[in-house]
Amino acid sequence: MISLIFNQIFKLSATTSIINSHIQEMEKLVSSWCKNKPLPESYIFPPETRPGNLVVPTCNSIPVIDLSKAEGQNRTHTVQQILKAGQEYGFFQVVNHGVPESLMNESMDVFKEFFEMPWEDKAMLYSEDPKNSCRLSTSSVNYAREKIHHWRDNLRHPCHPLQSCIKHWPQKPTRYREVVATYTIEAKKLGLRILELVSEGLGLESRYFGDKLSESEILSINHYPPCPDPSLTLGVAKHCDPNLLTLLHQGDVSGLQVFNNGEWIGVEPLHDAFVVNIGNQLQIISNNKLKSVEHRVVTNSRVARTSAGLFIGPSEDSIIEPEKSLVDDSPFYRAFEFKDFLLHYFPNLEDNEVVMGRFKLQA
Ligand code: OGA
Ligand code: NI
Repeated sequence: MISLIFNQIFKLSATTSIINSHIQEMEKLVSSWCKNKPLPESYIFPPETRPGNLVVPTCNSIPVIDLSKAEGQNRTHTVQQILKAGQEYGFFQVVNHGVPESLMNESMDVFKEFFEMPWEDKAMLYSEDPKNSCRLSTSSVNYAREKIHHWRDNLRHPCHPLQSCIKHWPQKPTRYREVVATYTIEAKKLGLRILELVSEGLGLESRYFGDKLSESEILSINHYPPCPDPSLTLGVAKHCDPNLLTLLHQGDVSGLQVFNNGEWIGVEPLHDAFVVNIGNQLQIISNNKLKSVEHRVVTNSRVARTSAGLFIGPSEDSIIEPEKSLVDDSPFYRAFEFKDFLLHYFPNLEDNEVVMGRFKLQA
């Protein structure tokens, strides 16, 4: 009996200490401390990587593609638009894409609600271990090792296979699992449709990317609280996405910038649109016919921004190499296993030359 009670007390105190350590760690979340505070020194970027001038051209230069046109006589035209945008910008937006507006709105509402919940409801999800299958964290991938912190909180989890992933997803808000499951299924279908159009444009069979190359699906939800000094810090520093294709739901608040022709250009928020960008693997497989382009996120002092990226990518054991039919003279990259790419990517993610350099073949 005594040992039973002792065990109970022990279990209780073990649980309490786990919760306590989560609470302490959670205090690192920007949203937990930032209200009415000046920008801490540890969030100030060196002058050369600061956003500086916050008024960048948004000038509609990132192409907006109407996907409803892809099903009719204009299919070839749509395919060409996608290829051209993928070559010139690495980015485009899609409208009339088939994911219902109500579902996009509901998902965005649930994402915002998640970050607005009191800390008790989020504490158990906080983790600094990148291997955790559903984790709430802050800044970049490695808070402990990074020199400068980023002005963002992040929730991320895999979405495939749904049955085994969903039990790790947040239980609150109560409709999170249902809404987000429907959302990720629909967004993945859209991603596969876009990959079919890409394949057609490259002259590959339409299911080329449909299997192992697009098997992994990770949802990454960013929350950028209003920032006291947006000119000195970043929400996400410049990087390319390491996967195949990203579909971003950026809501109604601007912040995403893409590097193009030597300058940063803003991606205008269009309600209902998805921002689509080419990941490193699509650049490699297409042997540079499509470009994975550097982008970053600036903050603002007025409102919080919430964005959700669905990262579609290869299974970790996939072998990646330039598709032979797309190699004119010689391939630009060697073959490698995708998991080796990821191992090299994370410590170097702010320098795309270094990331890609390792897999390049000498000309
Ligand atoms: C990312 C990213 C953009 C955004 O998470 O890789 O580029 O607008 N996010 O939040
Ligand atoms: Ni990105």
